[in-house]
Amino acid sequence: MTPIKTLDSRLRGNDKRCLITSAKLGGMLSIRNLCKSYAGPRPRTVLNGIDLTLAPGDYVAVMGESGVGKSTLLNLVAGLDRADSGSIMLDDNELTTLDDDALTAVRRVAMGFVFQAFHVLPYLTVAQNVALPLSLIGADAASTARRVDGMLAAVGLADRGASMPRELSGGELQRVAIARALAHGPRIVLADEPTGNLDPDTAAHVLALLRDQAKAKRAAGILVTHSQAAAKTADRVLLLTPEGLRDLGPA
Ligand SMILES: Nc1ncnc2c1ncn2[C@@H]1O[C@H](COP(=O)(O)OP(=O)(O)O)[C@@H](O)[C@H]1O
Ligand SMILES: [Mg+2]
Repeated sequence: MTPIKTLDSRLRGNDKRCLITSAKLGGMLSIRNLCKSYAGPRPRTVLNGIDLTLAPGDYVAVMGESGVGKSTLLNLVAGLDRADSGSIMLDDNELTTLDDDALTAVRRVAMGFVFQAFHVLPYLTVAQNVALPLSLIGADAASTARRVDGMLAAVGLADRGASMPRELSGGELQRVAIARALAHGPRIVLADEPTGNLDPDTAAHVLALLRDQAKAKRAAGILVTHSQAAAKTADRVLLLTPEGLRDLGPA
């Protein structure tokens, strides 16, 4: 087992070697019997025994009614919230046992995020936004420039690196977010309603890019969506219900 803390401290000094180390771990995401309740005046069990296994390059859609726990599931995988019980293995690392610093390191090294509201930082250029995850892992200037250029070209924004986000459309902003989510070669991409703010044609284009780029990078992807059309871009569709996560089969 490679402790993530060790991985992270090596990463800061030597981006290239550690990105290779991360990629060579070669495993998968394995979620077992994951449970989560929220306390409060009306305590409720949100996730009750979730199981999910993803190999590198797998790309699944998670559907389900509003409030059923889709974002909670992504937050648990991201280590932004804590499960009550169950297991989340990423490669050889049991995420549920890691402390906050180690989870932050895992997020930086191994995860990419795409949100409904884009979250492209308005005071940075497009290229600087895409470079952010690389600067967080201490990548050197040359490899950062190379990766940023490559990702911007991959999402069709090769000539927009110097633009400010306010000059871009919603679809373009989400393409920047996709480039940023994948720039550092994450193991997992988590996308929460990424096309909720886009028109259907733009959404279709963005979803195809997200899937194709995740697969090109051999990342496992979880796409949370309300839209049947969006879910069809995935390999498999999973339905989250209060009873658990049901595999509805190929999209
Ligand atoms: N931090 C929290 N504290 C208490 N309840 C929460 C919290 N986060 C989410 N919930 C509740 O958990 C349920 C699932 O929320 P969420 O995962 O956001 O659903 P979805 O993304 O499927 O719409 C909702 O009832 C929501 O109100
Ligand atoms: Mg949600």
